[in-house]
Amino acid sequence: MSRADTYIDENMSRFREELFDFLRIPSVSANSENRPDMQRAAEWLVQRMREAGLQAAIHPTAGHPIVLGEWRGAGAGAPTVLIYGHYDVQPAEPLELWSSPPYEPEIRDGRIYARGSVDDKGQLYLHVKALESLLKAEGRLPVNVVLVAEGEEEIGSDNLVPFLEKMRDQLACDYVIVSDTTMVAPGVPTIGASLRGLAYFQIDVQGPAKDLHSGSYGGAVLNPATVLCRIVASFHDLDWHATIPGFYDKVRPATEVRDQIAQVPFEDETLREETGSPTLGGEAGYSTLERLWVRPTVEVNGLLSGFTGEGSKTVLPAHAMAKVSCRLVPDQDPVLVAKLFMEHIHRVAPKEGVTVTITPMHTGQAWRARLGGKLYEAAARSLEAAFGRKVVYAGEGGSIPIVSDFERVLGAPVLLMGFGLPGENAHAPDEWLDVDTFERGMHAAANLLAQLSA
Ligand code: BES
Ligand code: ZN
Repeated sequence: MSRADTYIDENMSRFREELFDFLRIPSVSANSENRPDMQRAAEWLVQRMREAGLQAAIHPTAGHPIVLGEWRGAGAGAPTVLIYGHYDVQPAEPLELWSSPPYEPEIRDGRIYARGSVDDKGQLYLHVKALESLLKAEGRLPVNVVLVAEGEEEIGSDNLVPFLEKMRDQLACDYVIVSDTTMVAPGVPTIGASLRGLAYFQIDVQGPAKDLHSGSYGGAVLNPATVLCRIVASFHDLDWHATIPGFYDKVRPATEVRDQIAQVPFEDETLREETGSPTLGGEAGYSTLERLWVRPTVEVNGLLSGFTGEGSKTVLPAHAMAKVSCRLVPDQDPVLVAKLFMEHIHRVAPKEGVTVTITPMHTGQAWRARLGGKLYEAAARSLEAAFGRKVVYAGEGGSIPIVSDFERVLGAPVLLMGFGLPGENAHAPDEWLDVDTFERGMHAAANLLAQLSA
């Protein structure tokens, strides 16, 4: 046990209390009314970074601020490690589905329940506290550190990419560490081997100038809701294989990684239970993990049209809208997929009678880790020491678009060392972070920096 490990254990209850304060700030990046909370969260974080012993500052952007912390005392000969996390959270709605209020953190059954507990405030904060522990207990860090906390991860990181480009020299580093992913099972330390990318759209179908009586007019004009359903239905065949021409062109055959994926400890039934779905389902011919990790999808995120109140109302809606996203896999180009997707919709949409508008919202590149080398060896050792078990390498179904930008702009390898758990309810009501995993994650984070200096 190092002095930093002892410091972590002795100060853990304070660390938890501080995390609770962080979680009480509703830093929802998507809502304009939470703009002051975003500022407050950034200021809170900068303060904690300074107390930990870092030099820290807030960098305003066109959107939400970026918080940058630094410690350069290890000298020019030592490696520099960039740690990234996000302090913004997803909206907490629907509030009535939470067992306790989303911004009043509460521990139940060894879990911290709150919006942002696992995604990503807890995972970000464990790094801040690992740095504090090293600095207070040992007087120095084994490596130089740059800590980047952004406030726009959940809305596409639009201002972080220009920031990386502008600050390229100051952010120059040898390794990047990101804790914003999930472990395959409780107690099983996991290194992320890939992330999916994303292409997100809004589709609007406009028909008549106003809602109409469906008896007086139904049959005489096109119904935008029906047209939208027809468009949505055209995205898949009966086997849930996407039908957008060219969609799979760059996708590598799953057979290349089938054996590797089959070795990951995973039960369909566990995932089914987690989702509450009657059965699992998806593209025919692939296992669940293949569908999640190495197959792209087209998903409807939301639908809006017509009368949805109590009882019935015979109405022909003037307008229908859908939010749709494609999850992409490495080698797919999100901009090209977006183009194929829009061409497909224009091809299947009626040529007259309605106006179909497609608005691209954002894109993100998928990512595949180049496993091996000092970063991954050090990560495996520190995770194995903290969890007492061998690491597993696992794909991730979600997206962190900035990861590929880190590699492209800074030229440094990225490590995904996540401390979420299956069923964590990220983006959903009753989001939680496992207390034991949070603590072990902090030990692993501190130990990793020591490993990287060796
Ligand atoms: N922490 C997630 C990413 C994630 C999700 C990793 C699931 C592994 C498994 C991150 O905060 C997130 O939600 N990202 C968004 C990105 C999007 C808004 C561009 C996502 O995946 O939807
Ligand atoms: Zn998220």
